[in-house]
Amino acid sequence: MTNSIEITKAKTSKIQDVDFENLSFGKIFTDHMFTCDFKNGEWQKPEITPYAPLTLDPSARVFHYGQAVFEGMKAYKDDAGKIWLFRPEDNLARINKSAERLAMPAFPHDLFMEGLKKLINIDEDWVKPGFGNSLYIRPFVIATEPAIAASPALEYKFLIICSPAQSYYSGDVRVLVAEQFSRSANGGVGFAKAAGNYAAQFYPTSLANQEGFQQIIWTDADTHEYLEEAGTMNVFFRINDTLITAPTSERILDGITRKSIIQIAKDADINVEIRPIKVSEIVEASKNGSLKEIFGSGTAAVVSPISAFSHKGELFEVPKQDDKYSDKFKNLLNGIQYNTLEDPYGWRQ
Ligand code: COI
Repeated sequence: MTNSIEITKAKTSKIQDVDFENLSFGKIFTDHMFTCDFKNGEWQKPEITPYAPLTLDPSARVFHYGQAVFEGMKAYKDDAGKIWLFRPEDNLARINKSAERLAMPAFPHDLFMEGLKKLINIDEDWVKPGFGNSLYIRPFVIATEPAIAASPALEYKFLIICSPAQSYYSGDVRVLVAEQFSRSANGGVGFAKAAGNYAAQFYPTSLANQEGFQQIIWTDADTHEYLEEAGTMNVFFRINDTLITAPTSERILDGITRKSIIQIAKDADINVEIRPIKVSEIVEASKNGSLKEIFGSGTAAVVSPISAFSHKGELFEVPKQDDKYSDKFKNLLNGIQYNTLEDPYGWRQ
């Protein structure tokens, strides 16, 4: 039973209290949210309502078993005031893939697109123009059924909340290469945006933070010899002029920014290798001077240069580069996202 979206507008807006020049990532939310409940085997009436806390039964399975998936996407405003989304259908496909892995129901395409567009339209003043400004959009699904049997819930809530955003990382990022902890394993949920994937990184990442590293580059769980992803970002390496990134797999998130960069790089005649990357290869390239860049890619992180990595207690600085691939990709992506460049791919919607 999905019919038209019921809209209840907020009586007052919080927008005048927001300092859009100094935003910390993900702390402030817009005036409205989209919600839709799943009950009796189907999605119920969707709503857009004022942003507000939820009331859930303490036995809701999300609290006990982490049955929850999410997405990260952004809206951009061009100089004429028009708002654009970037590959939104890819986010829907991925949240439904994540949901399937966590035994949750898929969310319907048309309802997602309509709900998303209406929500952003209502909160359009929260999307500020200019490269670097965006509205971070967080669709997510939680298991709400009040029952604690360890089995899939019969009731869920799909929500979209939005937060005005600038950069995720301020300045360059230093990373630790994982030697002990692991993010994912074959047959697991590494490819999915499952809430627990992120919670499980908090402890090792906080240890890395204490040593002055913002992130961990995860390695394969068996040998810790192969570089995989950074948890909030996929990772690219530039050795001489070749761009290298790990192949997506059941352990690695199929990043939308990642695949966009691969496409842009190939079309710019850059040699791209999508293959397993050994830590030893990057260490060697750093020592012999052929390692030119490392950067992460993601919706929140956009394209974030990595300035140094640590492995087995040894620190490797990535040398400063004049003609950086990361700048080139960021500018091309931003140009498409903010409608200052042609979009030959049809990514902007
Ligand atoms: C995103 O880039 O949207 C992500 O999901 C990373 C997030 C955990 C901040």
